Order: sequence, then structure tokens, then C-alpha cells
Amino acid sequence: MSDKLAVSLFGVDFNNPVFSASGTFGYGRDYADFIPPGKIGAVVTKGTSLTEWTGNHGHRVFETAAGMLNSIGLQNPGFDHFVTEDLPWLVEQNAKVILNVAGKTADDYVAMVEKCQQYSGIHALEINISCPNVKKGGMAFGTNPEVAYDLLAKLRRVSDKPLIAKLSPNVTDIVQIAKSVEEAGVDAVSLINTLTGMAIDVDRMEPVLGNKIGGLSGPAIRPVAVRMVWQVSQVLKIPVIGIGGIMNGRDALEFFLAGASAVQVGTAMFVNPLAPLQIMRDIEDYLADKGFSSIQDIVGLAWKEKKQ
Ligand SMILES: Cc1cc2nc3c(=O)[nH]c(=O)nc-3n(C[C@H](O)[C@H](O)[C@H](O)COP(=O)(O)O)c2cc1C
Repeated sequence: MSDKLAVSLFGVDFNNPVFSASGTFGYGRDYADFIPPGKIGAVVTKGTSLTEWTGNHGHRVFETAAGMLNSIGLQNPGFDHFVTEDLPWLVEQNAKVILNVAGKTADDYVAMVEKCQQYSGIHALEINISCPNVKKGGMAFGTNPEVAYDLLAKLRRVSDKPLIAKLSPNVTDIVQIAKSVEEAGVDAVSLINTLTGMAIDVDRMEPVLGNKIGGLSGPAIRPVAVRMVWQVSQVLKIPVIGIGGIMNGRDALEFFLAGASAVQVGTAMFVNPLAPLQIMRDIEDYLADKGFSSIQDIVGLAWKEKKQ
């Protein structure tokens, strides 16, 4: 890869702007045969909590017409397991690591963010205030601007690591939430997490998912995500990371042109584990075809005044 794809965000240099999306790449090891974690821009980890969470029961994933529903419930082995088992391996692999942080209470988030301070291998923290699949925490923090502000301001006070607030699309006004977390002092926002959705098994006459309601991801949500990135990036001063239904290079380019400085690839991994690498190549070809020397030249170009 050439340095056309290199980006520097919140003081961290990334070789390229294509990251894994939380919850679809584990901690990188599961995909190591396909993608050495140092090859993608950053590994955004599975949502990780202070202690182990077992996740939801019953059916947890279901394929839909243009995507998937999931209700994993943030199952993860806990922070200590991550820092002893996975982080050293990721560091060895030269990966840029963004830890996705989950909590049930504000104190949970604060405690974990404080713990992260001592680990130089964690380059940034993505604060998940948008998970629709847990009863406490998650989306409850990300759908009210004051609650989101309070949490992120608390985290800002205890951490000097770059903080990324991961936003929920399940709100009436995404710009309002984005502005409140920017005011709280975060370094970037990432959007979108899944849209709430459900499916009914008409033979069993009951919801398909054990948790009944889940999160919809994949191509079905891309237009919603592009619209939100477009709206938020025109108002915020901090970088926006675009997520939602990116399956190929052209999908990713929509997000850059809408104003994203980087993107994350999620559901596509389940269809094609090599997707991020293909997306990186496609973006490079596009930049060469259009005569751009850097990915940064096209960020927001769909709304910025075009140079003649
Ligand atoms: C199976 C699965 C698990 C997920 N787990 C998490 C998670 O732990 N934390 C989080 O912030 N987002 C999680 N997400 C949301 C994704 O990171 C992403 O925001 C969303 O799926 C939209 O992107 P996509 O359409 O490319 O998948 C998960 C998504 C899926 C499909």
C-alpha cells in the first residue's frame, strides 16, 4: 500500500483509514489467517467490559434481506483477559488498537477507562454508548444528549488517551448528540452502531431472536449511516469515523465523500473475510483514477466547494 491512504487522527498515525468494526473481528486472532491485524488501519476490538459478560441467550444472529440482526449482548471475556491474552499479541503484530469500551453504569466506564491509562499498546478508546442489545448501559447513555455529555465529560477527566464516542442511530437528532459529546471533550465520533430491529418466525409465531429485539447491520443501513455522517461532519470540528453496511470500496468512498476521515467494516467480514484489504485496494485505484494524491483530499468533497 502506498502512503496515499495514510491518515493522522487525534495524534495517532494510521497506515490506512480502513478499520475493523467492533464485534465483527473479535480481537483480531480469529481473522489472522486472512488479515494480519497490522495490515488494516486499526483493530477496533469487541466491546469489552471490566469483567466477563456471558451475553444473551437463544438465537443471537439472523440473516435479513440486506443485512443481519444480532443480539449478542456484548459477550466478552473481560478487560483483564484482554490485556493479558490479546493485547500483547496485537502489539507484537504491530497493530493499531482501539479498545471498544462497554459498561452498565457510568462507574464501570470510568473504572475501565482509568485502567487503560497504563497500557501504551491501546492507542484509543471507542466508548460504546450505542449498543441496543443490553438492558443496562449501552444505548441508554447514547440517546440523551445530557446523559451522553455527563458520561463523556467524566471519562475525559480521567483519561488522556484519544476518546471516540460511538453513536447510536436510534435517535431523532444525531447532530445534537454528536455536538454534546464534542463539547464533553471527545477526540472523534464514530457512527453508526446498529439500528434496532426484529424478525418474527411465522411458523413458531414468536420473535426469532432470544432477546426479541436486536440490532440491524449491513447494506440495509448504509443510506442511513451516510446521511448521518454527512450531517454530523458538516457541524463538528473533530473527525468522524463512518460505519454501516460498507461491503466494497465504492461503499467506503461514499462515507469519505460524505465527510468521514476513516471507516470501519463490520458485517462484510461475515461474507468476505478479506473485505477490508479489497476495500483498501479499491480506494487506492479510485484515488489514482481521479488524480488525488491522498485520501484526505476527498474527505467531505460531496459537500465542500469543489476546486475547479
Ligand atoms: C455480530 C455483531 C456484533 C457487534 N458487537 C458490537 C460491539 O461489541 N460493540 C459495538 O460498539 N458495536 C458492535 N457491533 C456494531 C458494529 O460495530 C457496527 O457499528 C454495525 O454493525 C454497523 O456496521 P456494519 O453494517 O458494517 O456491520 C456489532 C455488530 C455485529 C453485526
